[in-house]
Amino acid sequence: MIQYVEGQQLFHLTTPGTSYICALADGEWLGHLYYGSKLADTTGMESAFRLNEFPYSPKVNERDKVRFMQVFPFEYSFLGTGDYRESCLSVENEHGQSGVELKYVSHEIIPGKIVPAELPHTRGEEGCCDTLDILMRDDVLGLEVHLMYTVYRDLDVIVKSARIINSSDAPRTLTRVLSGQLNARPDFAQVLTLHGSWGRERTITRQNLETGSVSAESIRGVSSAEDSPFLAVLSRETTQTAGEIWGMSLVYSGNFLAKAQIDQVGQLRGVIGIHPEGFSWPLAPGEAFQSPEAVLVYSDSGIGGMTRTFHDLYREHLIEKRWLTQDRPVLVNNWEATMMNFDTDILIGFAKSAKEAGIDMLVMDDGWFGHRDDDTSSLGDWFVDEKKLKGGLKRLVDEVNAMGLKFGLWVEPEMICEDSELFRAHPDWRFQLSGRKPGALRQQYVLDITRPEVWEGVYSQIKAVLSSAPISYVKWDMNRYLSDVGSLEREPGCQGQLLHRYVLALYRMQAQLLEDFPELLLENCSSGGARFDAGMLFYSPQIWTSDDTDAIERLSIQEGTALVFPVSTMGAHVSVSPNQQTGREVPFNTRAKVAMAGTFGYELDIRNMDPEEKAQIPGQVALFRKIHPVNREGDYYRIASFRENHSYDCWMVVQKDRSLAYMTYVQVLAAPNRPGIRVRMQGLDPDAVYEVNCDYQGAMAARNGEMSIGPETSQSVGRFHGDTLMKAGIIVPRVRGDYQALLYEVRRV
Ligand code: DGJ
Repeated sequence: MIQYVEGQQLFHLTTPGTSYICALADGEWLGHLYYGSKLADTTGMESAFRLNEFPYSPKVNERDKVRFMQVFPFEYSFLGTGDYRESCLSVENEHGQSGVELKYVSHEIIPGKIVPAELPHTRGEEGCCDTLDILMRDDVLGLEVHLMYTVYRDLDVIVKSARIINSSDAPRTLTRVLSGQLNARPDFAQVLTLHGSWGRERTITRQNLETGSVSAESIRGVSSAEDSPFLAVLSRETTQTAGEIWGMSLVYSGNFLAKAQIDQVGQLRGVIGIHPEGFSWPLAPGEAFQSPEAVLVYSDSGIGGMTRTFHDLYREHLIEKRWLTQDRPVLVNNWEATMMNFDTDILIGFAKSAKEAGIDMLVMDDGWFGHRDDDTSSLGDWFVDEKKLKGGLKRLVDEVNAMGLKFGLWVEPEMICEDSELFRAHPDWRFQLSGRKPGALRQQYVLDITRPEVWEGVYSQIKAVLSSAPISYVKWDMNRYLSDVGSLEREPGCQGQLLHRYVLALYRMQAQLLEDFPELLLENCSSGGARFDAGMLFYSPQIWTSDDTDAIERLSIQEGTALVFPVSTMGAHVSVSPNQQTGREVPFNTRAKVAMAGTFGYELDIRNMDPEEKAQIPGQVALFRKIHPVNREGDYYRIASFRENHSYDCWMVVQKDRSLAYMTYVQVLAAPNRPGIRVRMQGLDPDAVYEVNCDYQGAMAARNGEMSIGPETSQSVGRFHGDTLMKAGIIVPRVRGDYQALLYEVRRV
């Protein structure tokens, strides 16, 4: 609900559990008053502005305005006129001078939401949300700023964005437009971010914020493996299940900045949006610029409360609706098994074995086009290599379909290799700086898809391939960061638009793809999980999480990813042991149980497997089919983290009606002479009785009270009250050996 309290000149935005309050100081400055647990009433709230207190008072400071500007908790801050903190907006006038001063003009409350043009966005289906549109103006610049706040009725979520309009008759240049700001009490002195690199994406990092700032950012052209467009501030006491936390997540896939900063008087400001580095956006008279959306979530029930709200929002109002209930196919992908050395016969062999094992789909990865036998060639030539695919793509797909399997295809449309027909015809189509040869990464270059002829030239090829055979799934890869970002076509003053225009062109291409092939399941990917963000989820309901398929490494990668993103979005496959990236040997059962936490598949040579392991696949697929609906639609709870305890990892998913839950426990390191671990479940109905079964994948083999994991199945653990399972917990027995996984089914009787 959105309420304007006239007497207080105050906006009170409420969700089921939260209040967000901003108000006018002196009738013109829009400032932030409160974001936290829901308040029944706002009486007296404006005192939090401390307007009688030096230096907060604009009146007292008329002589010395900058004293006020540098401390006031602006709702959407601006640079150049006295606020020295990390701010949202910076604008140059026609003389190249920077300085903005935004003052309140009017506001409107609209049922539903205003969809940001050209950008992925949370959806505002009828009746689910309302939007507050506050119009701010800088009279000197002739600049109008619409601050949008979409408030969800059933979720503790506020979505912010800003639309900047040049209503003057002179040119303006935007040098910084962030999406939104978060002001928190200074006692919240820790920051959570998701940090990493290739193969170690989205590892949870929790650090103190005492002075200065902590940021997560990317200037790599994509959201990146190094940092994720997310940042939360929380108190030192906050745990998974209790305490306060404020999260910000950006619905965007390019350069971003997320920063939390303690200012000179101890106030905490957080900002999130497009990274200002390299960004410069000329705005002619009458033109507008729309920022991406920033999603704000507050929880007073711990980190887990925030996580589940993000999951609900992204599943229900970001990802295409059909994927909330539609099953995802279990797939086999040939990449790790064959790399680029495959042909029709090999793939048919994969398909046959996959069919026998109950798998739904074969995915042909990199290497099927041009003459791509290694990574030195062919990106840009999206036609079939007939030497490998004898008889063409359609013959292969038809044959796979005839076996009862779907077919999926890998593409990397944004790239070009020098050894390609496309490059020989259009050497100027890649990004490049005048007079400088662009640098290669993985022997490839980035196409300037902001140019219409390049966009069209690539998209028409992709469309032709997908039209040539019944393709059910596309894995859209992107294997390098952007460098040498210059366009030979663009005016000098417009080069600073390129990075954002690139992201918009990418979005346009994926939107077009889905319009042309509405049944398609799209899975994004970027050298593993380097573009796993809410922007890409708007187009693809699942994203390849990491090239690191080692199940033990995946524990922290998946834990970090699931901190913000629904578990049903995490592409996860069973691969060979020893693992190709780490050399670690992990039991087949554990590799499967960890991959089942996301969307499930196999990425190994399914034709030539150990027969005992191969025989387990149908059972694993059947088990995944039971867990998948709960993963997809239920609530996710993080019970314990190997990252923190250095011993074991544990998470559970609970169906929304609390009638069914699955808990996965991974004993990472075995230890002698320690009792079984007591694990307290979460999210169950305290009054219900549950039957608990454990999939031991093995019989109990008593040896000093340990279990050893063998090739067997499920055993009853007993009947318990939900209350007991959550308060007293159950004892997970000590298992023999490192890297052992147990799966508990918890079913209401
Ligand atoms: C990177 C992806 O993450 C891998 O899964 C694979 O598709 C390769 N690219 C292919 O080049």
